[in-house]
Amino acid sequence: MSICVIFTLVLKEFKILVVGIWCNRAMASHIVGYPRMGPKRELKFALESFWDGKSSADDLQKVAADLRSSIWKQMAEAGTKLIPSNTFSYYDQVLDTTAMLGAVPPRYGWNGGEIGFDVYFSMARGNASVPAMEMTKWFDTNYHYIVPELGPDVKFTYASHKAVNEYKEAKALGVDTIPVLVGPVSYLLLSKPAKGVEKSFSLLSLLDKILPVYKEVVAELKAAGATWIQFDEPKLVMDLSAHELQAFTAAYSDLEGSLSGLNVLIETYFADVPAEAYSTLTSLKGVTGFGFDLVRGSKTLDLIKGGFPSGKYLFAGVVDGRNIWANDLAASINLLQGLEGIVGKDKLVVSTSCSLLHTAVDLANEPKLDKEIKSWLAFAAQKVLEVNALAKSLTGQRDEAYFAANAMAHASRKSSPRVVNQAVQEAAAALKGSDHRRLTNVSARLEAQQKKLNLPILPTTTIGSFPQTMDLRRVRREYKAKKISEDDYVKFIKEEINSVVKIQEELDIDVLVHGEPERNDMVEYFGEQLSGFAFTANGWVQSYGSRCVKPPIIYGDVSRPKAMTVFWSSMAQSMTKRPMKGMLTGPVTILNWSFVRNDQPRFETCYQIALAIKDEVEDLEKAGINVIQIDEAALREGLPLRKSEHAFYLDWAVHSFRITNCGVQDTTQIHTHMCYSNFNDIIRSIIDMDADVITIENSRSDEKLLSVFREGVKYGAGIGPGVYDIHSPRIPSTEEIADRIKKMLAVLESNILWVNPDCGLKTRKYTEVKPALSNMVAAAKTLRTELANAK
Ligand SMILES: *[C@@H]1O[C@H](CO)[C@@H](O)[C@H](O)[C@H]1NC(C)=O
Ligand SMILES: *[C@@H]1O[C@H](CO)[C@@H](O)[C@H](O)[C@H]1NC(C)=O
Ligand SMILES: *[C@@H]1O[C@H](CO)[C@@H](O)[C@H](O)[C@H]1NC(C)=O
Repeated sequence: MSICVIFTLVLKEFKILVVGIWCNRAMASHIVGYPRMGPKRELKFALESFWDGKSSADDLQKVAADLRSSIWKQMAEAGTKLIPSNTFSYYDQVLDTTAMLGAVPPRYGWNGGEIGFDVYFSMARGNASVPAMEMTKWFDTNYHYIVPELGPDVKFTYASHKAVNEYKEAKALGVDTIPVLVGPVSYLLLSKPAKGVEKSFSLLSLLDKILPVYKEVVAELKAAGATWIQFDEPKLVMDLSAHELQAFTAAYSDLEGSLSGLNVLIETYFADVPAEAYSTLTSLKGVTGFGFDLVRGSKTLDLIKGGFPSGKYLFAGVVDGRNIWANDLAASINLLQGLEGIVGKDKLVVSTSCSLLHTAVDLANEPKLDKEIKSWLAFAAQKVLEVNALAKSLTGQRDEAYFAANAMAHASRKSSPRVVNQAVQEAAAALKGSDHRRLTNVSARLEAQQKKLNLPILPTTTIGSFPQTMDLRRVRREYKAKKISEDDYVKFIKEEINSVVKIQEELDIDVLVHGEPERNDMVEYFGEQLSGFAFTANGWVQSYGSRCVKPPIIYGDVSRPKAMTVFWSSMAQSMTKRPMKGMLTGPVTILNWSFVRNDQPRFETCYQIALAIKDEVEDLEKAGINVIQIDEAALREGLPLRKSEHAFYLDWAVHSFRITNCGVQDTTQIHTHMCYSNFNDIIRSIIDMDADVITIENSRSDEKLLSVFREGVKYGAGIGPGVYDIHSPRIPSTEEIADRIKKMLAVLESNILWVNPDCGLKTRKYTEVKPALSNMVAAAKTLRTELANAK
């Protein structure tokens, strides 16, 4: 691309500073999108303060504008040629598109005009009188978007000028940007029919109605001076029908006239583009560039090698937007040089694999992170530098020092004793190919366990955590900050456990838990005690709205230097004669809720974690714990995007779970818990986990779960579908719970049914938990009597 760009930046005092002039045939660089929250979650705090009425709309807008300007400035200073705008959002980019199209559901009482914060945030969050719009996962990321609700009666009008305003805002700061819009076809495919609209309604039939609004936006952007525009069409990576693909052809043919005179990029991400989609995409009219994720999968690369339209730009997403590892610059240069040979030197643009929204923001805010580990990482701010270093290197302006430092970091990561643990590698390698199953079948095991545990029919239990009080959180914090001694901490936690045990005995629950007062989080607690994990101070990633998560980083071979939970579990067991459950997080969940290594396949890391958990399971058993629960909350969440990859994933995920407990005696009862019930499609895999008892979310999903068994799936292990929803403060009555149990008894044998809530009780208050559990136990007892009388 031969362009001249003068980067000017307005400083606070309104002095103009010329940062640089690029006027050569430099390789272009591009960033698909950037995190919005800010390096220290500034947007989160500004949003929450605004929502709480503690600050004004102006205050919020000021924080947002400062964040945008610093991001644009940072990308410009790094030499980025195509800097995105409109990737900022106060809540979500799909909701922004809904606002742009004026597709506001009637319940929000919008009467036309530019959509403001009141309507926007009531769609996002609901308020005392209207519920929010539904939120769902953004492809296979942990980001969640607001699902548009559409139907034949929606009147689309141009109702939010955000894209144009942000383009102009950047321009006023001296930064010419590429405005980003969610593409029209992906937008419709991400929508759902509004309430009252037939489920079979064709959302794509609305294409003709939304394209006029897109045309207005494009015309305004052109008038404001935009020379490039980016349409994100990530739906192209999914398994689409011919009819759906045809919609892309139709949409961009219709837009062609409006787009003329502009450079148009269609951006895809998160997976390979299937062959049919690739040929549809690269034949689109009016489009001048195509963006691909070259990090996930290698099939798109083969398609490009097989043919790329001449004269078009290839945006090569070589810098990973989903993870926190430094790019292997030497390998990327190799790849990019190969691509230059195919598309031509002036048609290759170096880019990120997807928006950087899905990675942490800036490594500069991690002063406490170990120096060697830090040298292996790149957060969003560092990834911008990588993209530009690659682009410059391709035109002979290679920053030798930067490349040398990167090569050294990679060499150190390959050989560092902190990464490689030969014994772990060998143990994990030895697992491959073998099956790992308990020797005895589940019915025989349940019999052996019952002899030892001697539980009543319809045994009652809870899922693990008990309410976490302010006091408890404070004590944990003080202990971590070394403000209180280990002795005082242990004493406090012991008292807490003792009180939880007493409460359960008084309630007459059959299988007890210790309540997990020592745990902050079900993954961090284990990660902190395992080797191979690192933790950041500010490595936050947006999950939805103002909510962020801070995943641990798995950087090395995982091992367990010493027992992690045995101390607390055996202390708890010593306080009661009833069985006490040992509580562990399973390998698939630990893996899925972390930033994972990219130097070995996911399953290998998962097997390593499985071996560490296996050691813990066996130590608990030795310490006299006869019931051990291994939670796999994320088993279903981890399913890959494309159906063709499901079987392989489920195979190693389920295998990993079995590895953790294949070595225990028949009399040791293994439980697992899943906090969703939507797994009718993977029920075979759930059975294949071969747990003795599985407790599952059930009450929130209209008992969808039970339908599997109605349809005749044979299930012989213990099962505890949740009898009440812990996410609500409402206290269910005994009758209501008894009714639920009866519904379960209609499809499940009484000798395998357990009675328990849906999920852990951590977020509830004791004033809710005690009466709810008391009613639950009463309901179980009522049914025991009824069952006995029926005999
Ligand atoms: C809730 O939002 C709707 C739609 O924006 C608005 O009309 C209503 O006044 C709001 N109610 C409250 C209690 O804030
Ligand atoms: C777990 O992995 C899946 C699939 O990659 C992803 O959708 C999900 O958001 C992950 N969960 C978390 C907490 O990152
Ligand atoms: C399970 O094992 C027991 C004892 O080994 C055997 O009698 C029984 O038939 C087996 N049940 C099934 C369903 O395979």
